[in-house]
Formats: sequence, structure tokens, C-alpha cells
Amino acid sequence: MARKFFVGGNFKMNGSISSIKEIVENLNKATLDPNVEVVISPSYLHLLLVRENLREGLEVASQNVYDKPNGAFTGEVSVSQLKDSGINWTILGHSERRTILRESDEVVALKTKYATENGVSVIWCCGESLEEREAGKTIDVVSKQLAALKAQISDWSKIVIAYEPIWAIGTGKVATTEQAQEVHKAIREWLKTNVSDKVADETRILYGGSVNEKNCGELSKQADIDGFLVGGASLKPAFVDIINCLK
Ligand code: G3P
Repeated sequence: MARKFFVGGNFKMNGSISSIKEIVENLNKATLDPNVEVVISPSYLHLLLVRENLREGLEVASQNVYDKPNGAFTGEVSVSQLKDSGINWTILGHSERRTILRESDEVVALKTKYATENGVSVIWCCGESLEEREAGKTIDVVSKQLAALKAQISDWSKIVIAYEPIWAIGTGKVATTEQAQEVHKAIREWLKTNVSDKVADETRILYGGSVNEKNCGELSKQADIDGFLVGGASLKPAFVDIINCLK
């Protein structure tokens, strides 16, 4: 089965009302490859602004979501609130949340279960630190993160996996095409062995970490790279070139 190429833009805690409007206007007027699924993820504060102004066909994601129904959870946002606002995606398990906010593999897996079971698709992130890579533990770390996810998930159709080596995030140090492909291939093999051939075949695996308009072309040619989760470059006009990298 052909996996539809996917490009996500993770704005992180960046942007003002005017800069976000500018990004949306740029995307609205751009000619985008119709064969690419595009999902952009501004901060909670800008989700509605983006959803109300972004052209149809482009989706919006939150950067986190809570795994309980509406109620007394100060500071959190629920899955039903996202859906009510036309937000059909969320990022979960980004390394910045795993490390700075101390979200464990289990917490991320439970949130992923809740979101997908309640109709919100998930860009689920995984990846190793520099120390873990240098110790030769990359595949072990990612496999452990995947195993925690598998313990909670039965329907994988609403999950896109984003492999983001922590050492490549915001550092300008992109993984080489070989390094990225090696881990993507290992993730697909893990899915084949531990979940099913179908899930391995159908699940999109994105690469994230210093992707830009110059390196996206080569990365996109790798057999197991099905798209990107872009940070810094998603705030720039060149994001359009990344979306169109298959052309
Ligand atoms: O989620 C995207 C990300 O962490 C990569 O960020 O700025 O290195 O593209 P960046």
C-alpha cells in the first residue's frame, strides 16, 4: 500500500498573532502538492485562529492533549474541546515534553490511547539522546518507547510515528540519510514483528530534526521515510518547499 507523504509543522512555543496569520496566509496562497498531507501545530493559544483562517484540506494539530474527559484539570485541554474546535490531530510524546515536562513512555502511551479512541489522530514522537546514540542504544530506546505504546494501542490507523533524534532537534545537525533510514527501517521491522504486517506497511514514519528546504529532498527518497515533522523551518516561507519536496 502506498503511504501518503505527510509533512507536519511544529511551531512549538513560537509565534504572535501577526506572525501566525502571515504563516497561514503564505500556506493559503501557495501551490501545494496535493499528494502530501499537511498538518500544522501552533500553540494552544493560536489553534482557533489557525483553524478559522487556514484553507480547507490542511489540518491543524495541538502540541499536547489530556487523557480525561472535560472536568477539574486546571491548565489542560481535552480531546472533546479539540474536536469541538475542528482540531483533528495532536502531537504527543515530543522529546521536549518527555524531558522538560517529564512525561514517561506510559503517560504518552495513555494519552495516545485516549486521543485515538476518541477521534483525534496522533503524531507520536520517539527518539534517542546523543548519549544513548553514542552508547549504541538507539534502537533499544526507540523499541522501549514503541513497546509502551503497543501495550495501550489496538488501533494504529490514527497514529503517525515521528522519529526525532534529540541531538538533531533545533541544532542544525540533521541525521544523515543513512542514519535516519536505518532507524526508520528498524521501526518498521519492529511494527512487523510486534504488531502486524499490515500496520508495518501502512503506518507513516516521519523524520524530525533540523529538516529544511535543502536536506528534505534526499531524506524523502529513503524507502522508510514517509514525511517530516518540521520545527524551526515550519515558521518560514521555505516550509512550502519542504511540503513540495517530492516534486
Ligand atoms: O517536532 C519538530 C522538531 O522537534 C524538530 O525541530 O527545529 O530541529 O526542525 P527542528
